[in-house]
Amino acid sequence: MTKTNTAGRRPVTVPRLRAMKNRGEKITMVTAYDATFAQMLEEGGADMLLVGDSLGMVIQGLDTTLPVTVDEVIYHCRAVSRASRTAHVVGDMPFMSFQGDPQRALVNAGRFLKEGGAHSVKLEGGVAVKETIRLLVSAGIPVVGHVGLTPQSVHAMGGFRVQGRSADAAARVLADAIAVEESGAFALVLEGIPSDLAEEISDRLLIPTIGIGAGPHCDGQVLVSYDLLGLTPNLRPRFVKRYASFYDDGVRATANYVAEVRSGAFPKEEHAFGNVKRPPAAASAGGGVTQPLRVVHAALGYGPEA
Ligand code: KIV
Repeated sequence: MTKTNTAGRRPVTVPRLRAMKNRGEKITMVTAYDATFAQMLEEGGADMLLVGDSLGMVIQGLDTTLPVTVDEVIYHCRAVSRASRTAHVVGDMPFMSFQGDPQRALVNAGRFLKEGGAHSVKLEGGVAVKETIRLLVSAGIPVVGHVGLTPQSVHAMGGFRVQGRSADAAARVLADAIAVEESGAFALVLEGIPSDLAEEISDRLLIPTIGIGAGPHCDGQVLVSYDLLGLTPNLRPRFVKRYASFYDDGVRATANYVAEVRSGAFPKEEHAFGNVKRPPAAASAGGGVTQPLRVVHAALGYGPEA
């Protein structure tokens, strides 16, 4: 496919993301699941494209991200990385692809880079996944952490609930964030936590924090692209701002198309490929498809039509 016009843009690398935090430049991340969206989002200037396991909810129509598999995320990763030129592509490690077994995590994470074309992987959890992050990083796989509201723990949390509201809970989120940085991750997603906690974590860590529902003080922000483009009509979480109305536009466009096909207004000749170019001899010899069928049949010796 035609690649994005990113003339003059430099690839968004791990060192560059770190430098952006040091310069106080906000980092922008959005989710992407296919090549066309990846191209559009990159052209819009997104620094990082996250092939999130949220694809289970927005692409597959699931209620949670839990059933999503490594193969499914890698499939979408390939499409996104094929279309992107300079954005940093992050593959999201789905539920049970890394938990509890660092060696399995290493094999799975490697597949995101080898087969999916991702530049890094993201995995949920803090203190509990320290060893796993260390192992991945020691193998040369850049890791983005994810703490606070971790959707893969939806049942343990009792729903998609804001985390770190009490002083004790906030201390646990902070400890998780520090564990992620100490393990060698190069960036950290902070999801669904109070703004002041996100600010404290962003100040304390050297690696960039990327917030979603974590207020304005993070080093960057991430949104699910379907939310920011207005493609999720039944969802209106407080932390989402819609920048377009793709769903409403899509309904309107489809209704216009349906009406025009039914009325005959579409397609017109300008949308078609003209007529068959016939050799003049074929027409004058009385053969060819321009002849009424009964004439052709008669020439072939068939009897009269019933
Ligand atoms: O899967 C996803 O889209 C995510 C973002 C919400 C951070 O993890």
